[in-house]
Amino acid sequence: MEKIEIDGLHFDILISSKKILNKVDLLFHQLNKKYQDNWPLCLIVLNGAAVFASRLLKELKKPLHVSLIKVKSYDGIESTKHISVEYLPYDIIKDQNILLIEDIVDSGLTLNFLKKELKKHGAKNVECVTLLFKPSKYKYSVDPEHIGFVIGEEFVVGYGMDLNEKGRELPSIYKNIIHQN
Ligand code: IMP
Ligand code: MG
Repeated sequence: MEKIEIDGLHFDILISSKKILNKVDLLFHQLNKKYQDNWPLCLIVLNGAAVFASRLLKELKKPLHVSLIKVKSYDGIESTKHISVEYLPYDIIKDQNILLIEDIVDSGLTLNFLKKELKKHGAKNVECVTLLFKPSKYKYSVDPEHIGFVIGEEFVVGYGMDLNEKGRELPSIYKNIIHQN
């Protein structure tokens, strides 16, 4: 499937499922080499990162402390520029090294809000692994520490990422294209 349509918007394939799976394995090995027997507390940023995170952590054959964060900053294909926290395990943050697992870092608002919020609640160190990064839209000075793919500005869906809750189940990643008549 090279082209899809969701809610009247057209999408072209950007990254095949095979390329995604290879990259996720590579990221896992990079992280495992770095953390070895001291993996940080992993916080999966829902909903988008659920698919990526489950694949990423699948190979880990040691005890892992993992929990979830639920935030929302998108409405359709536009950032609302406002973050609402629906769930954050504040009681387990203190003195922890934390790895945030993100599907995509776009403006960086969510990531930098979370880093600040976690540090405010006593986290020792906060890093991020993100499957996708849009550097042309990123507004902060510190980039995510671990990046799968660098992409352009286009809105994407698939592999956990959605448009109005649609498209999360797609095994590949698709980018929005503007049709010219
Ligand atoms: P940011 O706060 O602007 O960096 O955006 C962060 C969140 O918005 C991501 O974790 C995604 O959940 C969502 N998001 C940003 N860009 C896209 C996209 O292209 N497709 C789907 N969701 C996106
Ligand atoms: Mg996300």
